[in-house]
Amino acid sequence: MLEKFKNLFEKNLKTQSDVYIIEDKSLKENQSQTNNIFSDKWSSLNDEGLEKQNRAFDFQKKWYLNLYGFANEKELQKFLANQSIIVDAGCGLGYKSKWFSDLSPSSIVIGIDFSDSVFFAQKKYQNKENLFFVKGDIANTKIKNESIDFVSCDQVIHHTENPLSTMKELSRILKFNSEIAVYVYAKKAIPRELLDEYFRKRTKSVSNDEMWEFSEQLTELGKRLTDLNIEFETPSIPLLGIKGGKIDIQRFIYWNFIKCFWNEKLGKSISINTNYDWYAPSNAERYSKEEFLRMINICNLTAEYFHSEDACYSGRFAKTL
Ligand SMILES: C[S@@+](CC[C@H](N)C(=O)[O-])C[C@H]1O[C@@H](n2cnc3c(N)ncnc32)[C@H](O)[C@@H]1O
Repeated sequence: MLEKFKNLFEKNLKTQSDVYIIEDKSLKENQSQTNNIFSDKWSSLNDEGLEKQNRAFDFQKKWYLNLYGFANEKELQKFLANQSIIVDAGCGLGYKSKWFSDLSPSSIVIGIDFSDSVFFAQKKYQNKENLFFVKGDIANTKIKNESIDFVSCDQVIHHTENPLSTMKELSRILKFNSEIAVYVYAKKAIPRELLDEYFRKRTKSVSNDEMWEFSEQLTELGKRLTDLNIEFETPSIPLLGIKGGKIDIQRFIYWNFIKCFWNEKLGKSISINTNYDWYAPSNAERYSKEEFLRMINICNLTAEYFHSEDACYSGRFAKTL
């Protein structure tokens, strides 16, 4: 498997702590800031209690099935069994790469990330023969043309410097008739978008410590609003993109004004991490459904499965041209 893995790349990759390196640092200011933010996020998560982390992973895995149209894990397993080379593009801590490699032991699974998360992932999952971790930019993978059977790019592409170029690159490495699973953040109501946009620029001049403090404050706000346990009927305000209907006060503020994530089951530190993950990276594009589908179209991909919810658009798209 190792030789087959190495042969996928256009050049010989050096290694550092058993992680294969395509590119160590980004020369682009926003990508570099985004990489640092995720390195920081992942190292803080890694210190967290294993049990809480696993609970978050379980939640994410269930959501993954929903986002990409698999009725259950068995169905995903059946799908993966036919994919001999799988890329988990922007793998973070690598638990989904590990999941894929467990579900499909005869596949080669490659987790790529531009942050230091790959070092944690490699250390944690080092005994898996069919699993490889690579550090580099998923917009420039150095993987040979049309050599990958399935690309999973879950909650990542909007964090890359130019998501359309990244999508083109991921589609370049896909074999004909193969699929990419991809997710983008959805645009929210206008007041929320304006605040989010402000932070994309502001975050570069705010220290990481301040961003953590800010994320903790937002988490506390989310918790206090949730604790109020108030539902009310909001009018619809179309010019601001605010939808009418019955809604909990925390959800109303969250969707329309400011991300103040709070989830009792996931607990405080995962909630803080989620708020940090949102406001800290400079690269975090949001899309309307039309904008997302236009990007898919430009890359000559065809929808096999499409999903939308308030937070995102996602789906599996095949390379048919
Ligand atoms: C929200 S996390 C998602 C991680 C993982 N896919 C998951 O679902 O848990 C986004 C990840 O994308 C990575 N990322 C951002 N830009 C990247 C790029 N250009 N190349 C590779 N990874 C990138 C970040 O370092 C981060 O680990």
